[in-house]
Amino acid sequence: MKIGVYPGSFDPVTLGHLDIITRGAKIVDKLIVGVLNNNSKTPMFTVEQRIEMLEKVTAHLPNVEIAPFAGLLVDFMKKNNATLVIRGLRAVSDFEYELQLAQTNKSLDKDIETIFLVTNVKYSFVSSTLVKEISHYKGDISQFVPPEVLEYIEKIKIE
Ligand code: PNS
Repeated sequence: MKIGVYPGSFDPVTLGHLDIITRGAKIVDKLIVGVLNNNSKTPMFTVEQRIEMLEKVTAHLPNVEIAPFAGLLVDFMKKNNATLVIRGLRAVSDFEYELQLAQTNKSLDKDIETIFLVTNVKYSFVSSTLVKEISHYKGDISQFVPPEVLEYIEKIKIE
């Protein structure tokens, strides 16, 4: 059984992420979406909220699981018997960081491979950072996030 991990901050999950999850789930038997729980970063959404949003938008994908992780990605992979890292590439500007990440993970664990899925051109400029900024200034984020996420964000704003 081929187990892949799609790691990230997902703060919050965007349509671009969901596209990579949907396509990644077709490549492996099981895809674990690893949600970084890193105390040194200050996310807009708690890890529990990010997981809840991811669970809602992936409910229709039977071989996708959502799990938090802290520490090294390679350790999380080993714990879950996963050998493939999946990441999305939006533009050349992503490449340098992604190459460094993949090479670092390879040198930490030689059994881990990284593959990149080229982001659908529709979402090539979409990022969680942009979504957070638009949302902060009360702009319309409906074209960047799945409807379930929009609903969730509206709901937690009210509460
Ligand atoms: O969505 P992001 O913030 O671009 O995801 C970055 C992520 C989570 C993939 C990366 O920061 C990561 O893997 N962090 C875990 C710590 C780690 O393993 N570091 C060594 C590899 S650079």
